[in-house]
Amino acid sequence: MNGFSFLKNSSLESVKNDSTSIALLGHGDGVEVMKQKIAPGKLLVLFPSDNADATEFYYIIDGCITGEVDSEDLEMKAGDFFSAKGLEGTVQFRAKTEVTVLIVTTEPLFHYLSNEIAELRKVGEQVEQKDRYTYNHSSRVANYAVKTAAKMTLAKEEVKSLMIAAILHDIGKINVPEEVLNKVEKLTDEEFGLLKRHPIDGADMVRKTAYAHIAPIIEQHHERINGSGYPFGLESGDILTEAKIIGVCDTFDAMTEDRSYRKADSAEAAVEEIRRLRGILYDPEVVDAFMEVLSEEGRIRSS
Ligand SMILES: [Fe+2]
Ligand SMILES: [Fe+2]
Repeated sequence: MNGFSFLKNSSLESVKNDSTSIALLGHGDGVEVMKQKIAPGKLLVLFPSDNADATEFYYIIDGCITGEVDSEDLEMKAGDFFSAKGLEGTVQFRAKTEVTVLIVTTEPLFHYLSNEIAELRKVGEQVEQKDRYTYNHSSRVANYAVKTAAKMTLAKEEVKSLMIAAILHDIGKINVPEEVLNKVEKLTDEEFGLLKRHPIDGADMVRKTAYAHIAPIIEQHHERINGSGYPFGLESGDILTEAKIIGVCDTFDAMTEDRSYRKADSAEAAVEEIRRLRGILYDPEVVDAFMEVLSEEGRIRSS
């Protein structure tokens, strides 16, 4: 039936190491449901979250764990459950036997564990090494993008996709020759043609994974609302909001961090340029939200 999905004895994606295996059973509206298996003697650790509202819920399906919380010894078995919200410190449990736990969390974390994302992040790191100006570029863009999204009305699930897409947005540059990435002079048409492939190549790389749904965001991060962008020359209504957000944050970071020796000046200059092109290349709502973020971060004086 439409809207119903059934995965018999399976999972959407899973990761494994010697001591644990975690399977993603489902996700939606910012909530993730996972099943974790822990080997005997290994630890289950709960970490405090930056987000005070984040809640994690654990239900022990099988096995037994022991631990100490507030100097009280705890032993929990199949059928027992506990939750964590606003933890002050880490809490550790040890598996007495092999343990299976069902975890429900309102703060999506599976993509941090995902092997597929980890592999693609490695490609991103190689790109940043190839292109001498882009060290940490992707994580800065992701940081700006998530903060900008928080000023707009995006669903939790969209923010999560945005974050992963922002981290991976330039992985397609792995196919662009180093000389082209680092060329100071104007690119020839042929060189620009090579560079212009990177959104499509990046999207193709992601399409082969469980994160295929973020491929269109990566594909569109150089589209501009007046249709002057690439690779497709899409216009505003056809460009995803997430791609518009990455487009603005990416432009700002590329403009400011290139010349780190005069960062403060160039932040103002970059902002002036982005404001000038607000409504021409860049979505006005995105620009306004991003400006709020920059002034809150003290990168620019609020206007
Ligand atoms: Fe790019
Ligand atoms: Fe970029």
